[in-house]
Amino acid sequence: MSKITAAIAGVGGWVPEDVLTNHDLEKMVETNNEWIVTRTGISERRILKVEGAGTSYIAIKAIQDLLSKTKTNVLDIELIICCTTTPDFVFPATANLIAAELGCTNAWGYDLQAACSGFLYGLSTGSQFIETGKYKKVLVVGADKMSSIINYQDRATCIIFGDGGGVALLEPNHEGLGIQDFQLHSDGNGAPYLHMKAGGSRKPASHESIDAREHAVFQEGATVFKFAVTNMSDVTTKLMERNGLTSEDLSWFVPHQANRRIIEAVANRLNVPIEKVIINIQKYGNTTNGTLPLCLWEFEKQFKKGDKVVLSAFGGGFTWGALYMKWAY
Ligand code: COA
Repeated sequence: MSKITAAIAGVGGWVPEDVLTNHDLEKMVETNNEWIVTRTGISERRILKVEGAGTSYIAIKAIQDLLSKTKTNVLDIELIICCTTTPDFVFPATANLIAAELGCTNAWGYDLQAACSGFLYGLSTGSQFIETGKYKKVLVVGADKMSSIINYQDRATCIIFGDGGGVALLEPNHEGLGIQDFQLHSDGNGAPYLHMKAGGSRKPASHESIDAREHAVFQEGATVFKFAVTNMSDVTTKLMERNGLTSEDLSWFVPHQANRRIIEAVANRLNVPIEKVIINIQKYGNTTNGTLPLCLWEFEKQFKKGDKVVLSAFGGGFTWGALYMKWAY
């Protein structure tokens, strides 16, 4: 019997309609369009303004897109891994809310927290359930409503993040396509440089924490920038070397969309020409867990069966990693 690999059999995506442009931000904080474009590559991002809607709303829209495109029956879904940093609630898990809303009554699920590397962690762990033969349909969704944890008076962070999400359906493949290899890392020593100060069990919400605006992303941007470039480059190089993959062999490089300058620096170190690099940061900013699946969703039509695709990410934690797959359809 041939070895089972876990392959992406379909992708879906969704971003909110409301657009927040750099010019809008100019009216909110001391910044300007030129600075944002040259320093980050971002022109606009989407903001979820639907009253009472959280991350599950984004995830559900993305999954509905996938289900209709792939003609998948909700009852065939066995597991939902929801990669998010902005869950609807501390508990229960957002994955449960998604399953209930969609009627996935044969699925169980859990939330996965690895900040911007979440979708890579999710694909890697989800693939294990397929490779063992345990399951045939696993949804890995990456979604965030970052606007819920952004201080729109902090120009260092509010220009970067946006809302959105996407999803991949993992299925068994018997042709050797799909996920070939991955390498993941984490280092809690990076926590001081990118985190949210309050709202967790160390510092529950209080009047003081709200007044101090501690329920929002805190970031030392320049430090995160350096670690992102070094670690994404190093882990991707190792993964490619281990799989005998040169930059010429590579069909597509799909990096986390944190900053266009990070993407270009990493591509440069890997010697991957920019034509092979998937970039949509100009439209959506950094959607955290949403960036990688939104890239797959938006560029899906350009991928061909057998294409060699490498994904790479870096995020708060610190977390980072890379994953190599052969596109399966
Ligand atoms: N508009 C105008 N000026 C700004 C600004 C803004 N929105 N934000 C910061 N500045 C200013 C700073 O105050 C600083 O001014 P000074 O030199 O007078 O002190 C100057 O611009 C440079 O600041 P710095 O933070 O060094 O800029 P940078 O080139 O590192 O860019 C980030 C800042 C945040 C865009 C960049 O560090 C970054 O992208 N980091 C990684 C972010 C990320 O994606 N993290 C998510 C997880 S991967």
